[in-house]
Amino acid sequence: IEALLVDGPLAGRHAIVTSGPTHEPIDPVRYIANRSSGQQGNAIATALAGLGARVTFITGPAITPPPLGVTVVKVETAQEMLNAVTSALPADIGVFAAAVADWRMSEAATGKIKKAKGEGPPSLTLTENPDILATVSQMSEGRPELVVGFAAETDNIVENATRKRERKGCDWIVANDVSEGTGIMGGSENAVTVIDANGAESWPRATKDDVARRLAQRIAEALT
Ligand code: CTP
Ligand code: CA
Repeated sequence: IEALLVDGPLAGRHAIVTSGPTHEPIDPVRYIANRSSGQQGNAIATALAGLGARVTFITGPAITPPPLGVTVVKVETAQEMLNAVTSALPADIGVFAAAVADWRMSEAATGKIKKAKGEGPPSLTLTENPDILATVSQMSEGRPELVVGFAAETDNIVENATRKRERKGCDWIVANDVSEGTGIMGGSENAVTVIDANGAESWPRATKDDVARRLAQRIAEALT
């Protein structure tokens, strides 16, 4: 019933949005994670739903509660996030805003690691996590029509993000400068450069909600 009432340029479209950090357990009490408030992902999910899309919102443990009006799938780890994304397919749109931990423990300890006297800190042996964005971008069957990734960079933003787009095979990369002092990490504003096959387009600094609405609008235009 709800779907029938929703109108807009993305009506009848399914969008998958990943958001938040992932947590990779070290032992039962500790984990590896990225910084991510989840605000930009929330705003994107809300904006896509506002244009009529059915949104599956796959989120790691973010501080900001997930938005209303979307299907929420909560996960902890990168592997769980990848499984959730795969299960949510097919989709027309994939927006990968999650700050996925690049590494996990090769083997998480089943019991709490204790400080052993005289032995110093433990060495953690890490393994690379699956790249969810690259996996979906490079699917030979069932790839969403439009795949959008993010690139949080501190240096050479456009060059790094352009290379990242090519390496991963997504259609667009939304790059931003998360250097300390920009106030973007954890703040309510964002200044992004959207990179596609034709080049880079810098958008003025705006609220994360406004950036999300502009991105959703651009997505709707690209699909129709
Ligand atoms: N991403 C992902 N799965 C991963 C790592 C990243 O889906 N295991 C996605 C992010 O959600 C984002 C994009 O890939 O949309 C870029 O993430 P980023 O961390 O900037 O890229 P990396 O390839 O991990 O490169 P870096 O070494 O700069 O961290
Ligand atoms: Ca990374």
